[in-house]
Amino acid sequence: MALACAWLLLALLPILGASAETAGGPSRSSAAPGRVLVTGFGPFHHHGHEYDHNPSGEVAELLDGQCFQDTICVEGMKLPVDDAGVQVAQNFLLQGNPKAWEAIIHLGLESTTKGLKVEVAALNNKAKDNSTIIDGGSTILPTTVDLGALDLAPALSGVDGSSPEEMWSRDAGHFYCNEIFYRTLRVVRRMYMKDGRLMPVVFVHLPPTEGVNALRDIARVVLELSVLITKDSPPSS
Ligand SMILES: *[C@@H]1O[C@H](CO)[C@@H](O)[C@H](O)[C@H]1NC(C)=O
Repeated sequence: MALACAWLLLALLPILGASAETAGGPSRSSAAPGRVLVTGFGPFHHHGHEYDHNPSGEVAELLDGQCFQDTICVEGMKLPVDDAGVQVAQNFLLQGNPKAWEAIIHLGLESTTKGLKVEVAALNNKAKDNSTIIDGGSTILPTTVDLGALDLAPALSGVDGSSPEEMWSRDAGHFYCNEIFYRTLRVVRRMYMKDGRLMPVVFVHLPPTEGVNALRDIARVVLELSVLITKDSPPSS
């Protein structure tokens, strides 16, 4: 109930987003909300199937500019399912994180899953031809989110088909979902936050979802996740 109210409140609150801070790189004043990048993908074609609706891109667009109280604000991006799309986030990070993201959540569609799946690792595998993304790079890169501190059960309770017990996955596949996760982790694992921790990056596979209410339910969970993964930032003083 509290969550439903929080979501309603969000819908009513004026959007704090983009203009709140424009300068300054990764460090921010303690009063400003943290910025979380949420990416999703657009429609795509895979193994002979057309996926005309991709809930991941739709959720990213729903969340763009949304803030949770004064804690975090989301920048949502819908990316194409191709070699360029999976390099967009990586390239911003390589330019020194000009948008001062404090965490990144990548979303994608998993057509056979029933609930949300948090991917615990990415594989050094290029979607286009199954060669390696980075020659000599680590075969597996684990998420930089503290999974032990992540309790999504309360947030998931209102989402159809999602069971907190079934939310973990150790196989992000061989396609672009895996590749964007690997690329971002690769860069983030070479950068340090100002407090010496790695930027939290996670990938969540979404089930096929249609209808604005169902998409909003998922967007709400992703917003909750954004708050959870940025929560252990050092207290302002
Ligand atoms: C890559 O490997 C996966 C798993 O074996 C397979 O399903 C997929 O078709 C392969 N992709 C390409 C481009 O060969």
